[in-house]
Amino acid sequence: MTHILCKTSDIDDPGSKSFEVKINRKTRSIFVVHKNGEFFAYHNQCPHTGASLEWQEDQFLDLDKELIQCATHDALFMIDSGECIAGPCVGDVLQAIPVIINADNVELDI
Ligand code: FES
Repeated sequence: MTHILCKTSDIDDPGSKSFEVKINRKTRSIFVVHKNGEFFAYHNQCPHTGASLEWQEDQFLDLDKELIQCATHDALFMIDSGECIAGPCVGDVLQAIPVIINADNVELDI
């Protein structure tokens, strides 16, 4: 099943945005990163403590917009794989959700 999140133009490149979506009948917080024309979606849950990652609404990236950054203890994650490369949960990964670009829509495959 696919779930339409937004238009591709709704998220800056590079940029990020959060959404609330129903997955398996539960409302979950997720976020999408747009980088170099590609889109990546993850559950908004840091593998360190389970905290939400953003430091301000829709702000999931570090200052250089090269990595995903957790606001709580500054863990850094690869945008394309969700792997933590620095911080207290190195080697752990964010939980990814498959993204489909359909015409101008960003959709989740859930
Ligand atoms: S909660 Fe994310 S690094 Fe600690």
